[in-house]
Amino acid sequence: MIQNLRKKLREISFLHNAYMRAKRIFISELLGMTSGTEQAYIANYGENLYAGHGEVVDLGSWLGSTTIPLTAGLLKNPKFRDSGRKVFAYDLFIWFDWMRPSVAGTDLAERYREGDNFVDEFKRRIAPLADSIEVREGDLKSIGWSGEPIEFLLVDAMKGWDLAAAIARDFYPSLIPENSLVFHQDFAHHFTPWIHLVQWKLQDHFEYVEEVPRSQSVIFKCIKIISTKDVNLDWGFEMFSDTDVDAAFEYSMGLVSTEKLPNVASAKVMWYIHQKKFDDASRIFHKMIKNGIPVVDDLFLVSEMLSSPTKTNE
Ligand SMILES: C[S@@+](CC[C@H](N)C(=O)[O-])C[C@H]1O[C@@H](n2cnc3c(N)ncnc32)[C@H](O)[C@@H]1O
Repeated sequence: MIQNLRKKLREISFLHNAYMRAKRIFISELLGMTSGTEQAYIANYGENLYAGHGEVVDLGSWLGSTTIPLTAGLLKNPKFRDSGRKVFAYDLFIWFDWMRPSVAGTDLAERYREGDNFVDEFKRRIAPLADSIEVREGDLKSIGWSGEPIEFLLVDAMKGWDLAAAIARDFYPSLIPENSLVFHQDFAHHFTPWIHLVQWKLQDHFEYVEEVPRSQSVIFKCIKIISTKDVNLDWGFEMFSDTDVDAAFEYSMGLVSTEKLPNVASAKVMWYIHQKKFDDASRIFHKMIKNGIPVVDDLFLVSEMLSSPTKTNE
């Protein structure tokens, strides 16, 4: 019922725009694809938890809703402020139509077309903090990383196997055992099942820390050095058997609270939808329901994908 109402709201654009505007004002969220709880978590990390052992990297900065609170928090922390370090903000800064709903109700909704570069808008938004942010514009798969130790790795760009592989290969070996945090913004999102397989495969190297309430984000701590051998793998769907997939999602679903279970469950269904294995996807979906996972949030969304006649892979 609520899911259907939300869907209807999104379809009536003037209502959706007004809702988005009111929501941002009411909970003073920065414009972006992250929630107020995530923005607060990141700001608090920067101000109170960052210890000065390594670099801070934001993968997938978009319009800065992670970069800005992170940097603002860090600048209140002498271990960062006095270190001469900068936050490394990676993004293509190329507009895609799927970004439009997230700017509903703002003048950006009509400003950009698919393929436009929006780095100027990012720079405008981060202007008061610009001295402390190094903008890394382009494909993170080719830009890569210097190899300097990373203390905080915010991952909001694992949008496909190619990106998951590049991030694991190029950034994970720079994590500092017992020190570094990885903030996975898409852990509880239907579209990104590979995150679960990567974290499961590397589970000896990470300890689960916590999740951010009312968001898709969870945080891991690196507890064991990650060598290039650990991550130079042929990452992809073919690398994992169905038994691996079961084990990976059992691991992930054992970490999160009930709030995030429908979304993590939906990522398992999506593992099969991405590969157009719709019978397997339906089997997993029905198993989730049988196990008592409510069909809400992203699990509702994938149920709609399964019931659509074309069963498109979005
Ligand atoms: C979900 S958005 C990030 C939202 C953002 N963290 C925020 O605060 O609202 C994902 C971002 O990843 C970026 N991205 C996708 N593929 C990329 C690539 N190959 N290299 C760098 N950035 C990429 C997109 O441009 C997009 O801005």
